[in-house]
Amino acid sequence: MMSAFFISLLHISFFLLFQKTAITAAAAAATQLRPGFYAETCPAAESIVRDVMAKTMKREIRNAASVMRLQFHDCFVNGCDASLLLDDTPDMLGEKLSLSNINSLRSYEVIDGAKAALEQACPGVVSCADIIIMAARDAVVLSGGPNWEVKLGRLDSLTASQEDANRIMPSPRSNASYLIDLFSQFNLSVQDLVALSGSHSIGNGRCFSIVFRLYNQSGTGRPDPAMDPEYREKLDRLCPLGGDGNVTGDLDATPYVFDNQYFKDLVSLRGFLNSDQTLFSLDARTREYVQHFSRDQEVFFAAFVEGMIKMGDLQSGRPGEVRKNCRKVNSPPLHALLK
Ligand code: HEM
Repeated sequence: MMSAFFISLLHISFFLLFQKTAITAAAAAATQLRPGFYAETCPAAESIVRDVMAKTMKREIRNAASVMRLQFHDCFVNGCDASLLLDDTPDMLGEKLSLSNINSLRSYEVIDGAKAALEQACPGVVSCADIIIMAARDAVVLSGGPNWEVKLGRLDSLTASQEDANRIMPSPRSNASYLIDLFSQFNLSVQDLVALSGSHSIGNGRCFSIVFRLYNQSGTGRPDPAMDPEYREKLDRLCPLGGDGNVTGDLDATPYVFDNQYFKDLVSLRGFLNSDQTLFSLDARTREYVQHFSRDQEVFFAAFVEGMIKMGDLQSGRPGEVRKNCRKVNSPPLHALLK
């Protein structure tokens, strides 16, 4: 009697597993991104996300920058699939605690808020991966930057990889030539790299990310020479040696406005991050774009939009689902079903 029960339980579990694999595999093959993907199934989706972004920026304006950054950290690690948003489980170390993300990425709760509003309006329809893409665009628009049409229809991943995040995401110590190589692996050009770095037109960075360049650039025991002396003194006061690494400074001189001030700052050697300043100071291939964008905001905006759309196209081709809760996958793993 008992064994018959277990056999039928196993049977059900395998059936569920098979059915799920079949569904998600079919969905993975069908992931053709396009504008207006939710026009029929959730027509209010884009306005719901924009409202959430507008409200959260009223509470704390920096949420715009923090949410926009999520697109980069999601898309570079196995495609734009919201793997970034998964909390750790006993079987999986997620990406939130990876080297570049720990104590640094923030505003996950803004995406949770958008998801909750969307689940009320159209349950089970809008993926967390698409929410990140819409919210990142809205963050730019609401900060005074360009508007664009986003392609939608992504699925959420069934897993995440801390190891991949550690391996892929660049450190603030990176220089232009390393970044050119890294971005080229994602089919992103030198222009895309420089334009997308222009996202640092809004937001903050921690002292932790710059103390090496203030006091010991490349092991010299000296500051980075590519810094305006007055600006360096200001950063020295903000981030004294041995001080609190979590104190934050502005990534450019207008940290709440999405504009081309960031590029003007790089040209005058007032870039916050080493990775940013090297785009002007170390490499002729990137310098050309920095100079151009510093002179012409419209050219920057157009290149930024192009870069964001290309980055948003990154996909892993792995199976996925529309998560109900952005922090966890819908279906429990097999061993949980068998318990
Ligand atoms: C090119 C390589 C990049 C490097 C090395 C880099 C690195 C960093 C670092 C170190 C910080 C500060 C983190 C901290 O101190 O806690 C930061 C902040 C930020 N990054 Fe990047 N980043 C890069 C590209 C991008 C891209 C492509 C985007 C978006 C399209 C982006 C958006 C942001 C934003 C908006 C912030 C401020 C976030 C906030 O205020 O919470 N970054 N980045």
